[in-house]
Amino acid sequence: MTGGVIQQKNTDRKQMLEAFDETKAGVKGLLDSGLDKIPKIFVRPSEELSEELTYKYPKIEVPVIDLSAGRIQVVEQVRSASEKWGFFQVVNHGIPSEVLDRAINGVREFNEGDIEEKRKYYSRDDRRNVKFSTNYDLYHSKTANWRDTLRFSFPDQIRSEELPLSCRESAVEYSNHIATVGNNLLELLSEALGLKSDHLNKLECAKGRRMSMHYYPACPEPELTLGSTKHTDPTFLTILLQNHVNGLQVFHEDQWINVEPYPGALIANIGDLLQLVTNGKFRSVMHRVVVNREEARISVAYFLSGPIQENKGYGPIDELISEENPAIYREVHLLDYIKKFLSVELDENLGLDCCKI
Ligand code: OGA
Ligand code: NI
Repeated sequence: MTGGVIQQKNTDRKQMLEAFDETKAGVKGLLDSGLDKIPKIFVRPSEELSEELTYKYPKIEVPVIDLSAGRIQVVEQVRSASEKWGFFQVVNHGIPSEVLDRAINGVREFNEGDIEEKRKYYSRDDRRNVKFSTNYDLYHSKTANWRDTLRFSFPDQIRSEELPLSCRESAVEYSNHIATVGNNLLELLSEALGLKSDHLNKLECAKGRRMSMHYYPACPEPELTLGSTKHTDPTFLTILLQNHVNGLQVFHEDQWINVEPYPGALIANIGDLLQLVTNGKFRSVMHRVVVNREEARISVAYFLSGPIQENKGYGPIDELISEENPAIYREVHLLDYIKKFLSVELDENLGLDCCKI
């Protein structure tokens, strides 16, 4: 292909993205327009499709941890899952199932509700605290993802009145509960590292809490696209609530493994920053979301990102390094790390490679 043709293609793509973005109706708006083929901007390159959608689907599963079991047992399970999988599910975490159901229903009501109401929130303006959009990286990714997201920081930077009415109460209620689970998990993770239970909390891992409410509409050609490109999370810890619809997959031992939806369960995954401070002991693992023809997948991701505004520096925890086990990462500043994450395409993110010594 000549340079001119490539240039033309890029211009076409940019125009298509802009036209789509200007509808402010998201992927759900496309679906509602009754299309039976997905627009080109969502179609992944054929090499990628053949390489990635074939997987053996073995009968192994992300560990499920019952938090009501004895402390020693729970800590051991958290340690093992964080080292081997970087992912685990938790049950008996203390959040009533009605709270979880209301959070999911709130996301559904917003996304399936009045389009004019949704348009009020549709924005790429970083000065806005509550933002709704299709793909934060729409203009610099190779392929757009089949999902719409409402995102905000909670509760430090917004007032609840800023949230859409349809999900306001349920989001506030859920965020109050999930904060407690987040702290409990940080205590378990600290103990799993052989540290005092308040170690990770003292590092302020739970500061800078953000929430992404994702809506992955049903898709007429699910084999051609993804709900989310493969990525690792630029967080300390992510806690995810999913509805009953399959879609999340974790890359484990060279294969994509489904994370089964269990009623009442929450998914926890180690982010890049926890991999960094644990000097690689806990792993931040690639994951992605596939979509389906039948039903919308809904999820609420709660990110523990640390004190980003203060741009604090983080390196491997002193207690976890020694002469035999020297630091493999240098110190990074949170803001620099997040900026880097946001500036490249999701699947081209090399995570912690940049911070290796
Ligand atoms: C994320 C994420 C998975 C999902 O928000 O980082 O991986 O199922 N979400 O929505
Ligand atoms: Ni993620």
